[in-house]
Amino acid sequence: MARILIVYGTTEGHTRSIARRIAATVMAHGHLPTVVDATEPRITTDACDACIVCAPVHQGKHPSAVMHFVHDNCPGHIFLVAGALKYTEYDFMKRILMRLIAQRNGADTDTTHDYEYTDWTRLRDDTVTFLASARLAIETRHEAAALVAAGPMLN
Ligand SMILES: Cc1cc2nc3c(=O)[nH]c(=O)nc-3n(C[C@H](O)[C@H](O)[C@H](O)COP(=O)(O)O)c2cc1C
Repeated sequence: MARILIVYGTTEGHTRSIARRIAATVMAHGHLPTVVDATEPRITTDACDACIVCAPVHQGKHPSAVMHFVHDNCPGHIFLVAGALKYTEYDFMKRILMRLIAQRNGADTDTTHDYEYTDWTRLRDDTVTFLASARLAIETRHEAAALVAAGPMLN
């Protein structure tokens, strides 16, 4: 059984859902997940065998708290996951901005609805792939870390 630290950053909560879904897969495969918000102080990888960092994309960037963590724990695997557009939860300016970004990228522009683009089956498969390679790394005492980047224009 491996101890897997799952660190996430989020603004609208979708990446938290992704982190929790990854934790469910980790548990289903007999490992022990710990899910932590990247803004929590003093996060350490000391008590884990591998870590997975989940980071949304906001205006082309990941949240700084997540990036600090990634800087210290260089990921060997990067998975791109489609996120969500939560128009009904955005304030006026955010809604306009996101509609513009969505339009430019061919995504949904009806702001009366929210849209979830995450392929949960693919996320589960990517997590299982990572767990297999992490097991190898742990056996050979190498570090195992993955970055899961979430944005609606990514898939
Ligand atoms: C203000 C804002 C800017 C965004 N910029 C990008 C972007 O540059 N590229 C992208 O793929 N997604 C972008 N997104 C979409 C988010 O990545 C997507 O909604 C993601 O699911 C957000 O995750 P969160 O709910 O964990 O914050 C943006 C969303 C917002 C609200």
